[in-house]
Amino acid sequence: MSEPDRIPAADLPPGAVRRVGDWAVGNRDGEHFAVSRRCRHQLADLAEGSIDADGCLVCPWHQSRYDVRTGEMVAGPRGFLGYHGPTPGYTQFVRTYARVLRLRVRRAVRRGEDVVVE
Ligand code: FES
Repeated sequence: MSEPDRIPAADLPPGAVRRVGDWAVGNRDGEHFAVSRRCRHQLADLAEGSIDADGCLVCPWHQSRYDVRTGEMVAGPRGFLGYHGPTPGYTQFVRTYARVLRLRVRRAVRRGEDVVVE
């Protein structure tokens, strides 16, 4: 049996997102989450993302927003490749296929001094 993915809880303060193996693990005001790391748009590492005021995980490249409880993309990208700006039809297209290709979701729980991905 392999060791679970874990991170010291002290390294995951409220508002933080960190890389833990294949997972982007975050702390939404004390509620931990774990989702797969690759954005459904252009595969940015979501462990380098941020948590917005609504508790969504925001992609660092084009700001797609994800519901970390379901893995659903709730807002599509604002740009593509090196461009950052409005792309109305494209944004909706990406959001449509991301409905099928949701992020994988795991429970992330505090165990002793660590947060463990189950
Ligand atoms: S790679 Fe995530 S929104 Fe573009």
